[in-house]
Amino acid sequence: METVVVIVGAGPAGLATSVCLNQHSIPNLILEKEDIYASLWKKRAYDRLKLHLAKNFCQLPFMPHGPDVPTFMPKEFFIDYLDAYVTRFDINPRYNRTVKFSMFDMSNNKWRVEAENTVTGAIEVYWSEFVVVATGENGERYIPEVKGLNNFCGEVVHSSMYKSGRDYKNKNVLVVGGGNSGMEISFDLNNYDANTAVLIRTPRHILTKVEVYVGMLLLKYFPVRMVDTLVMMMSKARLFIYGDPSKYGLIRPNQGPFATKFLTGRTPVIDVGTVRKIHEGKIQVINGGIRSIEGKTLTFENGLRQDFDVIVFATGYKSSVCNWLKNYEYVMRDDGFPKNPMPDHWKGEKNIYCAGFSRKGIAGAAQDAMSVAQDIKSILETARY
Ligand SMILES: Cc1cc2nc3c(=O)[nH]c(=O)nc-3n(C[C@H](O)[C@H](O)[C@H](O)COP(=O)(O)OP(=O)(O)OC[C@H]3O[C@@H](n4cnc5c(N)ncnc54)[C@H](O)[C@@H]3O)c2cc1C
Ligand SMILES: *[C@@H]1O[C@H](CO)[C@@H](O)[C@H](O)[C@H]1NC(C)=O
Repeated sequence: METVVVIVGAGPAGLATSVCLNQHSIPNLILEKEDIYASLWKKRAYDRLKLHLAKNFCQLPFMPHGPDVPTFMPKEFFIDYLDAYVTRFDINPRYNRTVKFSMFDMSNNKWRVEAENTVTGAIEVYWSEFVVVATGENGERYIPEVKGLNNFCGEVVHSSMYKSGRDYKNKNVLVVGGGNSGMEISFDLNNYDANTAVLIRTPRHILTKVEVYVGMLLLKYFPVRMVDTLVMMMSKARLFIYGDPSKYGLIRPNQGPFATKFLTGRTPVIDVGTVRKIHEGKIQVINGGIRSIEGKTLTFENGLRQDFDVIVFATGYKSSVCNWLKNYEYVMRDDGFPKNPMPDHWKGEKNIYCAGFSRKGIAGAAQDAMSVAQDIKSILETARY
């Protein structure tokens, strides 16, 4: 089958790219491995998830959120929004198509994209002039190597499979990872009376969503350092009542929250109430890694030994691009993230692009989609004359 653009992945980035291409009447096709679009949101997100960013940072091209939508949307609102987006722009991805292989064919200057039809098992071959990689920064779940994890006789789950604390009442649960997912899952577990401990290794800024929102608005007008200073002052004043957070195992990075985000991609944690529970002693914080596991007993690097029934790995994801994109070197580095620095990260060589890899969430994906479609349009126009 032949088309002008093949888009791999029907998440927000892939959907937005398709809409932008359609606006320019450029034929395109989305291949999606799941049987639904936005599978991350529909299948791999816990129940109580609310969008961390204000709604104006969580919209796709040509369809702003209405005034009735709350500033900080629960997950269901965003899913409704995506449903409306797909209906309004009539996007029809090809589902149950896992792209397993893709390469640039020098003999005809076209991309060959091979997808497994997961229903029939057949390999389908697609040819296109352009490819847009939209498989997401969260393509593959990441669980670090832990010595003795195979011997653990409790339950092991990754945050992408965690739904609610309802399933863990009165259990001893260790959440590994102090990022947004880990902190919110800890909060959720404690709400359902699980005995909750959270393992935190990396220093993180912990802000409220309002502090982040104010920061993001100010960033449009002021330099990062100034915004960081202001936001840190706000957060320190708020946390003042708890005393020094490092006493509870909450260590702050030396750099400010937005500088940390730009330099390392590590987002600040948006506190949903976890800090208060930690302060009240309802959630235990463990600093440092797991040294070993025997049965249900975990030994930590700090010498602590404790029994757990469940380990939730909120240790994030990695990009899966290099697994299926043979000639990834035209657009990505070895870690599956763009090789070109911002703001030109979305464009590769040989007509390959990526959308949704700027570590700027939905707003970044929307921006990439517009840039990619505009670029493809101008290449096609130039070729026509
Ligand atoms: C728990 C959680 C909360 C988040 N909250 C926010 C938030 O509040 N605000 C925000 O801006 N961002 C948030 N994010 C980041 C979020 O992932 C992105 O904003 C958004 O989903 C990215 O869209 P995407 O299309 O780039 O990737 P994805 O949504 O991951 O979509 C990629 C799609 O590609 C498909 N796919 C992958 N590999 C293949 C393959 N080989 N062949 C075919 N199809 C494939 C997948 O099935 C998926 O449907 C959150 C992420 C997580 C995990
Ligand atoms: C995709 O596969 C699922 C089963 O895994 C099936 O229910 C669904 O109808 C399929 N969708 C398409 C469009 O083939």
